[in-house]
Amino acid sequence: ARVQDTHPDIVKKAKNMAFVFDIDGVLVHGDRLIPEGKRVLEILNGDNQLGIRIPHIFLTNGSGKPELARTEQLTKILENPVAIEQFIQSHTPMRALSEYYSSVLVVGGEGYRCREVAEQYGFKDIIVPNDIIAWDTSIAPYRVFTEEERASSRPRDFSKVNIEAILVFSDSRDYATDMQIIIDLLRSEDGKFGTVAADPISQRIPIYFSQGDLLCPTEHPFPRMSQGAFRIGLEAMYKALTGVDLERVVYGKPEMATYKYADEVIASWMDTIHSEERVPENVYMIGDNPASDIVGGNMYGWNTCLVRTGVFQGGENDEENPANFGVFKNVFEAVTTACRKEL
Ligand code: G3P
Ligand code: MG
Repeated sequence: ARVQDTHPDIVKKAKNMAFVFDIDGVLVHGDRLIPEGKRVLEILNGDNQLGIRIPHIFLTNGSGKPELARTEQLTKILENPVAIEQFIQSHTPMRALSEYYSSVLVVGGEGYRCREVAEQYGFKDIIVPNDIIAWDTSIAPYRVFTEEERASSRPRDFSKVNIEAILVFSDSRDYATDMQIIIDLLRSEDGKFGTVAADPISQRIPIYFSQGDLLCPTEHPFPRMSQGAFRIGLEAMYKALTGVDLERVVYGKPEMATYKYADEVIASWMDTIHSEERVPENVYMIGDNPASDIVGGNMYGWNTCLVRTGVFQGGENDEENPANFGVFKNVFEAVTTACRKEL
């Protein structure tokens, strides 16, 4: 007899739960696998007593390369399939902005990879800081601009281009240059280089950040500054220079819009694997960062599990943003405890 016939209730319960995984500090450390991550995905992909797939998606504040490249890399590291349709990185929801803006400044990331991301999102005219320096090196007085960088950039007369929005997709590789260019544009008249707006509010172009993490764990013994720290620096500079607060939009965890987007992805992934387009009732977020994964999951009504393999190093639970389902040694303990409760 089929599992579906012998255990109809458990199958129903298995389809009524879903997991949302943070990536860095839960499943991997950089390019290094956390072994329990691989085992957990095998179980959810059907290596369980019921032989059933338990729905799960990936929700990371990571950024900097196209979704396909990142999911292929994760598939190799985790030795389990990670499909684009079940994957959200910090800038994924920013795809929708391509309907509103044509010429955009895209900041952050290695080389020109974020230009590639923006192209795939459908932005028509993508400008990166190197294009601007190649046009006028005096804009960034302390930057050493190599011939190789010049050859791969796309300069033109930016005093004639109206840049409509600034999109910070990933971590800046050169704070001094990127901050100077962003401040120049924020102070300009409608995003045109070589101008200074008479009214800093009405003529200011919008700025978007893909995530707000202050710190990010790396190979260094202490976490390194991330996009949130870069943004706070910019806000302080803008306020000091203009006297007005900088309005901005931040994506990623723990912003509410990101969780709403995740719900849509869960529902369509449910449709893909179980032909039922809906969000299961019991969603479990597994994360290592109380200030993003856990606070966001708690606000959104998910069950939250905090693991000890990443940012969180504290005691019984995080004091400011405690995980409501519990704190676990690793992702395997979290997932098996949730499954025992639900099934
Ligand atoms: O802080 C940036 C990023 O590396 C965090 O990724 O997967 O832990 O949300 P994740
Ligand atoms: Mg993490």
